[in-house]
Amino acid sequence: MEICVIGAGYVGLTSAVVFARLGHKVTCVDKDSEKIKKLNEGSITIFEPGLEKLLVGFNRNISFSEDIEDAIGRAETILIAVGTPQLPDGEADLQFVNEVILTIANTIYSHKTIITKSTVPIGTNDKLVEILLELEVKRSRFHIVSNPEFLREGSAVKDMLHPDKIVVGLEDHDQQSLIKLKQLYYGINAPFVVTSLKGAEMIKYASNSFLATKISFMNEMARICDVFNVDIMDVAKGIGSDPRIGSEFLQAGIGYGGSCFPKDLQSLIYTSKKQEILPKLLMATEEINQTQVDVYMDKLKSYIPNLTDKKITVLGLSFKPNTDDIRSSPAIRLIHKLVAHNAKVHVYDPKAKYETTNVIQFHHVNDALNDTDCIIVATDWDEFLYLDWNDIKRRVNENIVLDTRNFLNRNKVEKHGFTYVGLGRSR
Ligand code: UGA
Repeated sequence: MEICVIGAGYVGLTSAVVFARLGHKVTCVDKDSEKIKKLNEGSITIFEPGLEKLLVGFNRNISFSEDIEDAIGRAETILIAVGTPQLPDGEADLQFVNEVILTIANTIYSHKTIITKSTVPIGTNDKLVEILLELEVKRSRFHIVSNPEFLREGSAVKDMLHPDKIVVGLEDHDQQSLIKLKQLYYGINAPFVVTSLKGAEMIKYASNSFLATKISFMNEMARICDVFNVDIMDVAKGIGSDPRIGSEFLQAGIGYGGSCFPKDLQSLIYTSKKQEILPKLLMATEEINQTQVDVYMDKLKSYIPNLTDKKITVLGLSFKPNTDDIRSSPAIRLIHKLVAHNAKVHVYDPKAKYETTNVIQFHHVNDALNDTDCIIVATDWDEFLYLDWNDIKRRVNENIVLDTRNFLNRNKVEKHGFTYVGLGRSR
């Protein structure tokens, strides 16, 4: 199948490479000429395990271009994978999706199956149908399909090759497009969940909202565990063995970040409020997440009441491990608070970079740890599990370790004389 993927971000690029691997002929387009140049040279513009290897291996099936009209003209299937960033009031910005649909309207001379992969508010795909008709595109020339993506950064390739489901939202039970989608995903072993356009949009938002709520729930439980001297890790294990609850996404910590959960929650809150529904649970989920950094700041201040000129080392910048993405990262929020308290902040991250005043970033973890008054682990990179605490002990001023991810081996840390501080960890 000849496919045009519009947008070479996380979702677009991974989809393009995976569909090339499935044997389709893919053109991936993006407005960013630098990105396109690099991709044509075979190098990946994002840090995503396994993606570059797959791109190089299947490069005969994939090309990258800036010429969107040409790519649309040749393809029978078009995948929209452009960003839908958040506007200041929480609404999703559909500017890029709308631009793409205008270009498609001006370029359409044969039948196209237009697949929306971008996360878009409920009702957007129905609107796209209306826009195309208003622009006098013949009804026989297109079908719109909503096919949201559930991949995670850091395991994008694996998630796309082995999804737990493929959600397909159709216009009026359009069976022709369903067959197309089955051809597109041929080779991937996952059940299809078939619904309406709006149904698919809602599934995407409900999925991210539920996962985010699970995290905030555990963060609230951890706050309670903290005062009762109960270990939240035991609670996670205890409740997670119940299949109705499930063991994943029960890790309490500094809160969720990234380009999806915060944005999608805000967008669903905005959409609901616009329909005069007050989504109290979603709002509470967001509020717990926003204030989680303060919980850690309070903990820190209980050990170091005055942070002025204290050297604090933050290990980890990215919103989670195995990515260099710092969008809405709680580590960055924490750093801002530390700077606001006049601390001298030293940071180290295996992949991510962040430049700002009053923060020094080091290339080697040991350099970041020299003479520090407190070590804060802000991202659960595996590398931090293997720190040499014996060596670190000789480098630091004070032996305090604030583990905002509850993931270090506490016994190991304490054995070397450090004071281990987690959230909801019993003494
Ligand atoms: C998330 C969803 O998991 C994907 O299914 C979805 O496709 C994607 O958003 C999207 O909408 O594009 P992602 O943002 O890559 O994927 O990251 P996750 O692995 O879900 O982690 C999100 C945040 O939650 C991270 O900051 C992570 O540290 C945090 N988290 C996760 C916890 O604090 N506790 C947990 O138990 C799990």
